[in-house]
Amino acid sequence: MSSIDPRTVPLDPTSRERLAATGLDYRTVDHDDRTAFSRMIQAVSRGFLGPEVDDAYIDEQKQLVSTSNRYVAVFDEGVAQEGVPVATVHSWVTELTVPGGELDMWAVSGVTVSPTHRRRGVARAMLEGELRAAADAGLAIAGLTATEATIYGRYGFGAAVPMSRWTIDTRRAGWAGYEPDGRVEFVSREQLADDLSDVYERGRTARPGEVEGWPRRWRQHAGLDASTKNGETVRGVRYRDAAGDVRGAMAYRIEEGEGDFRPSQLQIRHLTAETPEAAAALWRFALQHDLVGEVTAKLRPVDDPVRWLVQDERGATQVVHDHGWLRILDLPRAIAARTYSAAATAILEVSDPLGLVAGTWRIEIDADGRGRAESAPGATPDLRLGVAELSAAYLGGVPLTGLRAAGRVQGDAQAAAALTAALRPVEAPALTIWY
Ligand SMILES: CC(C)(COP(=O)(O)OP(=O)(O)OC[C@H]1O[C@@H](n2cnc3c(N)ncnc32)[C@H](O)[C@@H]1OP(=O)(O)O)[C@@H](O)C(=O)NCCC(=O)NCCS
Repeated sequence: MSSIDPRTVPLDPTSRERLAATGLDYRTVDHDDRTAFSRMIQAVSRGFLGPEVDDAYIDEQKQLVSTSNRYVAVFDEGVAQEGVPVATVHSWVTELTVPGGELDMWAVSGVTVSPTHRRRGVARAMLEGELRAAADAGLAIAGLTATEATIYGRYGFGAAVPMSRWTIDTRRAGWAGYEPDGRVEFVSREQLADDLSDVYERGRTARPGEVEGWPRRWRQHAGLDASTKNGETVRGVRYRDAAGDVRGAMAYRIEEGEGDFRPSQLQIRHLTAETPEAAAALWRFALQHDLVGEVTAKLRPVDDPVRWLVQDERGATQVVHDHGWLRILDLPRAIAARTYSAAATAILEVSDPLGLVAGTWRIEIDADGRGRAESAPGATPDLRLGVAELSAAYLGGVPLTGLRAAGRVQGDAQAAAALTAALRPVEAPALTIWY
């Protein structure tokens, strides 16, 4: 748990001045001020194409969000709905799992700009402001999940944690896996929210890329949150191992087939498992469910074992996409925070639109898996890259060799290969939630 309280971190003066010059007011919003908080939530809902939300929704949000969230909004006093922000962002400090440990991360979410104020640089001012504030507060990295993949690269974020969607034709795919010796049982939706949270929190430090969960996220998956449409159609199961301990949980819903039950679709909303047996048991439950012709699952790791659990892998289609975005703010601290898989040495010349990580750096990874980065002005670089590419490669989910092949990293092939091998963790990074 971080000692940094983001609510006490001052707003960035550069962004405040830039917005003020266009007549806009950049302020923090107090979570305990009900009117101000509900206006902020209304603006966020509108920004994400949602409805006007009611008091019950706001109350639920107030209880279930962490009170240490920082809410920042931009106001235009000239608009008819006075007090409703024209732009929002909120952030908090969470633990990012990195190989060999955890690293405090400035999580950014709720980025919206009213359609009446779009493309005037408001989002840019807020994003740059949050990154400068986080760097000033001593954070080494920032992260987010994005509605569109084209928004955040310009601020130095790189798509670091690819994830995948599966669509599985159950009859064609079949089942080649084993039958774990624990058991799968149904649970109430209240219990499901607790089980998802407990299993996720115990397991998240095993995979680089995951971040801390929070109560509302699990209530949404369990269909209990006011924002979840048809929440009562969500069902939950969990896996108990042979000793009776809960090791996995799954939220899903079934969409009936038109005119015939057999092609019904089972949609996995969230599957969390802390052992391979638990994952296999829950996948087996889904794939062998009667009357289900298709199983879909989102936000699965790119190395999900389901490919090898089925008999005919052509019946299981995987689509890989960007999901977890990272932005290094302090290179020496980020490099020192994780462990590595192989020794490597390289000089990197890093460009950074905000200047935070710009410069020439000597990266040294020892044979014992520890690394350090030191400023090396004047040294001849082996590789030249932007902070977005470096951030994408940081957890080892994106190879520097691939980025170099695409022309997004320039320089020596051997240096790229050595660093790629050093950065690659045993299991692919994963981020199984949105934040
Ligand atoms: C995305 C959003 C926040 C952008 O706000 P904005 O104030 O219009 O953005 P800005 O005017 O500050 O634009 C800054 C830069 O981003 C670019 N940009 C903005 N929105 C973009 C988008 N959706 N896709 C690609 N580029 C985008 C602009 O062209 C501009 O580029 P440049 O400065 O490099 O030339 C706004 O469109 C929005 O609220 N969208 C709906 C909610 C959403 O998707 N939020 C993101 C959550 S992850």
